[in-house]
Amino acid sequence: MFLRAITTLFLAHAPLVLSQTLTNPVVWQDHPDLDVFRIGRTFYYSSSTFAYSPGAPVLRSFDLANWEAVTHSVPYLNFSPANNYNLTSNSRAYVKGIWASTLRYRPSTDTFYWLGCIDGGKTHVWSSPGGNARANGGEVPTETWNWTPRPVIDKCYYDAGLFFDDDDSQVYVVYGNTQIRVAQLSVASNGDLREVRNQLVYTSSDMTLEGARMYKRNGEYWIWVTRPADAQFVLRANNPWGPYTRRVLVERIQGPLTSAGYAHQGGIVDTEDGRWFYAGFMDAYPGGRIPVVAPLTWGGDGWPSLVRDSANGWGKTYPIPVATTRKVNVLGPRVDEFRGSKLGPEWEWNHNPDNGKWNSGDGLVLRTATVTGDLFAARNTLTHRIVGPKSRGTFRIDVGAMRDGDRAGAVLFRDRAAYIGLHKTGNTASLVMVNNLNLVEGSWTTSSTGSVVATGPSVTGEIWLRIQADITPAFGTNTGRQAIFSYSTDGRTFTTLGPAFAMSNSWRYFTGYRFGVFNFATKALGGEIKVKSFAMELV
Ligand SMILES: *[C@@H]1O[C@H](CO)[C@@H](O)[C@H](O)[C@H]1NC(C)=O
Repeated sequence: MFLRAITTLFLAHAPLVLSQTLTNPVVWQDHPDLDVFRIGRTFYYSSSTFAYSPGAPVLRSFDLANWEAVTHSVPYLNFSPANNYNLTSNSRAYVKGIWASTLRYRPSTDTFYWLGCIDGGKTHVWSSPGGNARANGGEVPTETWNWTPRPVIDKCYYDAGLFFDDDDSQVYVVYGNTQIRVAQLSVASNGDLREVRNQLVYTSSDMTLEGARMYKRNGEYWIWVTRPADAQFVLRANNPWGPYTRRVLVERIQGPLTSAGYAHQGGIVDTEDGRWFYAGFMDAYPGGRIPVVAPLTWGGDGWPSLVRDSANGWGKTYPIPVATTRKVNVLGPRVDEFRGSKLGPEWEWNHNPDNGKWNSGDGLVLRTATVTGDLFAARNTLTHRIVGPKSRGTFRIDVGAMRDGDRAGAVLFRDRAAYIGLHKTGNTASLVMVNNLNLVEGSWTTSSTGSVVATGPSVTGEIWLRIQADITPAFGTNTGRQAIFSYSTDGRTFTTLGPAFAMSNSWRYFTGYRFGVFNFATKALGGEIKVKSFAMELV
């Protein structure tokens, strides 16, 4: 009843919450390694997701301030070894997979291309038709997205930036760490990409530079490169192969949030009327890496500058870049009742799922997919980014069909995890709060499968499981932001279970904390849970 009321309220009012000011962070969710570009009136944003599946989510906006999720460029991780990405062997792919990848649109063939170097090895390529995107102001109908893998390029384009030059006949990828290279690609008549030339275009002798993106403005070529993780530099030349001249854009600039890192590793995009904006991200752990946007001005000498606030820092707000009546379903508070057979683009599994073990329609059914004592080894944990600064995620779950030995619940998922859930023993499903689920930094093997620190009553039917998480940035501090776990039997009155959990601010797992729902077996497969709804609300 309560959740239904929220759904109605949210759906009825969603379009009205569109902001008329650009407020940073533009999305208070973990969307790192961004690549932004525009087709007509539509802005696109690609980001990286490591071992989460589907990977490389695509966001869209009509004003650069309000963003929604539309698709994933990598519908499943077709990387090797497949067992790691599918969690079907003893190894796993946490912190492997997709990082610093790139997405662009090729107008002449109406094709979106995504590419990224996987695990330091080869560059994977996926593409989707655009449904005549250019003629439609850049808009792509949801049902048009259809990502298919292309032949792998047998070379690592480290931190790749794809660029289709004006006339679309020239295709470049700028990439590298400190030694910045440009690869020129050919596009076969079937759309496959192949390298035809490769050249070192810039060597940094005084600092590490990476995260390259290429642009063209007024006939000049620009490569944007970051010094991790605190500065953005720009390289300028009159042809793609150089020679390039370097300047700094922002270096340790005071950000719009305290205890977040410096904005860096971004890209630029122009509006239809020719104004330019820079989007970068800040390390904002425990929540992950979150995007900030600011306008650029171009000097008489042709070099760009960032528009700063009165304190010479990154503005908390700027005028909205584009006045538009186009609406988006802004990323943030929402309710999902799993009414479609497909999951919405806000959801990602912990690794490639076992698609035979879940279905969505009138709720989400999760059948146990793995027999294990280790949540990190269990397939089909479904995760959702947390919206900052403070929010709660509530899963309404029917646990009536759990079987002896099964474990299910709501997890605050990262390399230092905790959950509230049910442990079923015999015919009894008991509420528990478990913390101390840990991975070893670096090897990402499991060092601890968790400790039951509180128990609650037994449950037979429906239960609401809630995690309230404060992801206000605390990066570089010793403050462990807190999460609180609670449950309810009526969806209205919630009872806290267990101690508050202090989240880790370490950057090494890269991805920030997420809300997740899981169901695994410790004895035998066959049990299931039904997730009737998920609600995320700011608190
Ligand atoms: C891995 O999982 C994906 C879907 O999630 C599936 O398409 C693929 O066949 C699986 N590969 C192996 C080797 O099991």
